[in-house]
Amino acid sequence: MTSDELRSTEEVLQKSKAPSKQHSAFRKVRGRSHVFEDDCNRGHAYRLNDLSRRTLSLGRAGADETSSSGRTTSPAPSVYSFNSSDERQVLRQAYGRMVNSQIESYFLPADYEEHRRLDLQHQVYTMALGALYPAAPLVRWALRPRHDRRPAIMDVGAGSGSWAIDMAREFPYCDVVGVDLVPPRVTGQLPENCRFEIDDANLGFSHYRQTYDVVHARAVSMGVRDFPALLRELADTLRPGGMLVLGDGEMQLYDEERQPLQYSERDASWTQRVFFAAYNAMRNRAGGSIDSHSMSPTWLRAVESLTEVGWDKVFIPVGPWIYANEKEKHLAEMLRANTLAFISGLGPLLLSEGYLKESVEKMQHEASLEIRDLRVHIYTRWSFAWAMKRF
Ligand SMILES: C[S@@+](CC[C@H](N)C(=O)[O-])C[C@H]1O[C@@H](n2cnc3c(N)ncnc32)[C@H](O)[C@@H]1O
Repeated sequence: MTSDELRSTEEVLQKSKAPSKQHSAFRKVRGRSHVFEDDCNRGHAYRLNDLSRRTLSLGRAGADETSSSGRTTSPAPSVYSFNSSDERQVLRQAYGRMVNSQIESYFLPADYEEHRRLDLQHQVYTMALGALYPAAPLVRWALRPRHDRRPAIMDVGAGSGSWAIDMAREFPYCDVVGVDLVPPRVTGQLPENCRFEIDDANLGFSHYRQTYDVVHARAVSMGVRDFPALLRELADTLRPGGMLVLGDGEMQLYDEERQPLQYSERDASWTQRVFFAAYNAMRNRAGGSIDSHSMSPTWLRAVESLTEVGWDKVFIPVGPWIYANEKEKHLAEMLRANTLAFISGLGPLLLSEGYLKESVEKMQHEASLEIRDLRVHIYTRWSFAWAMKRF
């Protein structure tokens, strides 16, 4: 790798790590609500509700829109935040990283480092698509301004919150809610029209029937017990004409000809080994949902209330071993940085499967060297699928 390539990869990593602003202080105000004071000195309430269902709602201070199920009943604009005692309820330590403490199947980290990786991965998705979403004309039409109400968007498995926040910025006249097992660690100022809820998508969304114009779920499959059932739930949360948008990166790696790399114990690169081990560990935890990237169009067609099913796939090289222009080079560099951080976050998943610490560290170390030095010429494939709610 040339020094130029090294520098640009480092820059990408640095940028993804650099916190712009950190949330700082908070104080308890009443009952189990907390007011959080961010560095803009805005106070926001954080409600912990219905812990028996392990469901937490994050709503604006003073807004009283919490249902008996403990979840907010409208997509009203609001913001939130998060403190250390809340953290103990939704996160736990595992093998040296923080993971969610709500479900066992999702076992990638849920800490600051992972959220900065997700920020970077969000840039990869966005640059690869050239937009925040596929099927742009349909999504924009679903979110057109209306006289009678504000259009509403839900992001399921919102992660670091970057998609929800970017959508709130692109569509300032819409309300956006991000839902996840853990709170996002937002480093900048949240748009007023964006808020977050802590919730498990496996519990369903009966409280949000016919509420949203766009529902987005990207890279959540490992945490989903029954993907087709989730799609039916999400379809029910859509208004007629609303769009359901899915995205996922595949664990299958592709060769220089964009053909699936076959796994053979004898010839596999370290990168293949670590991806293969991670895929099997994910499958053991999540079952068939993990293959949602290839099954989504079929599953979407099976939902009677959905129509206009479409899908798309994008190949991106891991590192700039091939590129036609500066944009492609930058995308490949970002994906390389993301892949290195992803591999480094696989510790808890692989160790919990019974791999020896030395084996995991060896795989991670060797695979990272291969990728950094562009010794493996690998493509990854990113899948998108969408459908419209029938009128
Ligand atoms: C790989 S991250 C992707 C984050 C985000 N969608 C993105 O593309 O940047 C997966 C996220 O889904 C969340 N998640 C997984 N299972 C979930 C579930 N059952 N309910 C809610 N969130 C879930 C995880 O906590 C994690 O933040």
